[in-house]
Amino acid sequence: MDKLVIHGGNPLMGEVCISGAKNAAVAVLPATLLVDGTCRLENIPKIKDVLLICDILRSLGAKVTLEDDGAVEIDALALTYKSAPYELVGKMRASYYLIGAMLGRFNKAEVAMPGGCDLGPRPIDQHQKGFEALGAKTVVENGVIYAETEKLVGGNVYLDIVSVGATMNIMLAAVLAQGNTVIENAAKEPHIVDLANFLNAMGANIKGAGTDIIKIKGVSKLHGGVYSIIPDQIEAGTFMVAAAATRGDVLIKNVIPKHLESISSKLIEMGVTVEEFDDSVRVSCGKDKKLNPISVKTLPYPGFPTDMQPQMSVLLSVTKGTSMVSENVWDSRFQYVDELKRMGADIKVEGRVAVIEGVDTLSGAPVRSTDLRAGAGMVIAALIAKGTTEIYALHHIDRGYENMEGKFRALGADIERVSE
Ligand code: EPU
Repeated sequence: MDKLVIHGGNPLMGEVCISGAKNAAVAVLPATLLVDGTCRLENIPKIKDVLLICDILRSLGAKVTLEDDGAVEIDALALTYKSAPYELVGKMRASYYLIGAMLGRFNKAEVAMPGGCDLGPRPIDQHQKGFEALGAKTVVENGVIYAETEKLVGGNVYLDIVSVGATMNIMLAAVLAQGNTVIENAAKEPHIVDLANFLNAMGANIKGAGTDIIKIKGVSKLHGGVYSIIPDQIEAGTFMVAAAATRGDVLIKNVIPKHLESISSKLIEMGVTVEEFDDSVRVSCGKDKKLNPISVKTLPYPGFPTDMQPQMSVLLSVTKGTSMVSENVWDSRFQYVDELKRMGADIKVEGRVAVIEGVDTLSGAPVRSTDLRAGAGMVIAALIAKGTTEIYALHHIDRGYENMEGKFRALGADIERVSE
């Protein structure tokens, strides 16, 4: 079992390059099942979730080659219909994209109910609603989702809840369906636009991604090609908050500043300096700068991302005054608060709201990463804490951050991974 050992107190200084977006990669990789030809995907992050999806695609019969420069080549032509193996798909939430992709390609799919971070109930009723609007019958039995139809035909879907996963899954099922599909109340996250751009680059006809109405005209086939994934909004945001929390000065490169606006605007409201350039942002905060407490509400894009909530709460835990954080996407995303309290934070959680009284400093302690973004929050807490923090359950962090400790170390953090 690995742990991270962090001696806090060093301000982060220098430059960091952001990797490709996890939540785009985990959708674009399964999308290659729909393509008649070879796809070369560039800027794919080297993270456990990506390796797992590549293994799943291989187990289904696709040829998958990971190259040293971060590109992945996939040829799924020889694929024949198979159910996705539980021992692989059960390990990650995003394996639900196999349902849309398999349904689109074979008119049927059989995928074990996905695992992933425990953030409260994670229903997939909106995915099912979408598949059914395209003519598929879906059923969940013994932990497996079955979807099947003679032929997929475009249809109209109004999502009851803005869901990233349902929006992308319906897009995957609809690109090769006969006729037109309209998704209303669609999610607008950058990775939705990235998936649509990838599919369009391979010959699909998708309009409106990034707005709440997406229109898809079915095409008869997709062709191979080269596509580069967008940079990771949440990895960038994590480094922005870490730079501010450690009172450092960091140039965060390979980002799309527009995707970071909700995060930048909260940091600026607190008094942090954020400068935007074409494809980088610089975040700096002097040691003696008094920061302001704020209110944060997580919302679907372009609102403040739920996946930045733990990291932001850590910064607010050492910001004098009372801050309020309300979680509006997941039922249970404050599990990390108990760990943070063990480091001296003063936070009261009531339902989906956390009231944070800023303390002067946190103190090092052994803590657990309770999910992926909570793990990122614990790393930031450790970077600012007095003394030594040991972070356990790193498998969460490894699922979604490429070389996190190496990137922090290059910025001057005293951080080491130790195998026990
Ligand atoms: N929901 C339903 N029914 C559905 C689908 C969702 O009720 O059929 C509810 C969920 O329970 C949740 C809300 O709708 O309360 C939003 O869920 P959404 O479907 O948007 O989430 P997701 O697609 O399962 C993705 C990211 C998450 C991120 C959320 C919200 C991936 C693989 N995961 O999950 O990322 O928190 O969108 O932005 O893209 C992470 O990266 O750490 C992570 C958890």
